[in-house]
Amino acid sequence: MESIHLSLPDWIDDYMYLTDEKIIAKKYSNIIWDLLATELDNIKEILNTKGVVKILIEKSEYSEDILKWFLLWICNYLGIPTYTDQVQKKMLWNITPKENINRFTTFSEVDGEALLHTDSQFSPQPEHYFLLYCSIPANIWGISYLVEIKDILEEIKKEINGNDILKFLNEVKVPFRVPSIFTKTWDDSSIEIYKSTILSKDNKEIRFRFDTVEEALKIAPNLLTDKEIRLFRYFQEMLEHRVKKVNIKLKSWECLIIDNKKLLHWRTAFEDPNRLLYRIRFNNNIWKTKLC
Ligand SMILES: [Fe+2]
Repeated sequence: MESIHLSLPDWIDDYMYLTDEKIIAKKYSNIIWDLLATELDNIKEILNTKGVVKILIEKSEYSEDILKWFLLWICNYLGIPTYTDQVQKKMLWNITPKENINRFTTFSEVDGEALLHTDSQFSPQPEHYFLLYCSIPANIWGISYLVEIKDILEEIKKEINGNDILKFLNEVKVPFRVPSIFTKTWDDSSIEIYKSTILSKDNKEIRFRFDTVEEALKIAPNLLTDKEIRLFRYFQEMLEHRVKKVNIKLKSWECLIIDNKKLLHWRTAFEDPNRLLYRIRFNNNIWKTKLC
């Protein structure tokens, strides 16, 4: 996997400050842009061609708030960061396990296994990219795997029922239940379901998550036929056992930016209440050339 080193100048602590995660201090943003222009262009290029890039941020003494600002700044340079949920409207999410959650959870709230999925698959327009920064890695486990859409298509060709699977993925709108934290009420009183095909017609974009579909089917089993449910579960089993995967274990100060439409990601379970990642999702509607 290709990686890029980024470092913030030492004087950053004297000038930067953070207010409610909003991107500020534009004057200094432009100075940093000038300093890091080559590296940022390389990040764009790698993302466009490979769909994933690792960023190694040079260790420094500046505060965690400055670091968060910098991560938001990178995403704002590359595209448009989004508010992920409808209530808090936060752009930067702390990903750390929470205790005693009594609702339909999403993977980032818990320490269990997160099967292969794309983020925001339950949304009309899933974000094109997301950044994951590792602040405190899990002591043990918590390994991630990535799967590319091209390797999924390759595997489908090898399957005896490959044509049926591809037709199902291209044509059948499957129901994805919205995890409670992303609903209007933040709890199980809102049942929100969004229907979409898993693969786009041209096979260039994917959205997928096994449990959000299974949860939707518990509520409304008639949304798919028995044959479609069999194909859906077969596809999950194929992804889990037969599709090529690349594994990654992020260390502190490392981050990944992933194309959320070309790659699925998977995280093994972990046991470490201190594990902490930061996540920012963003769209690339406009590939900015400079912060404005
Ligand atoms: Fe995810």
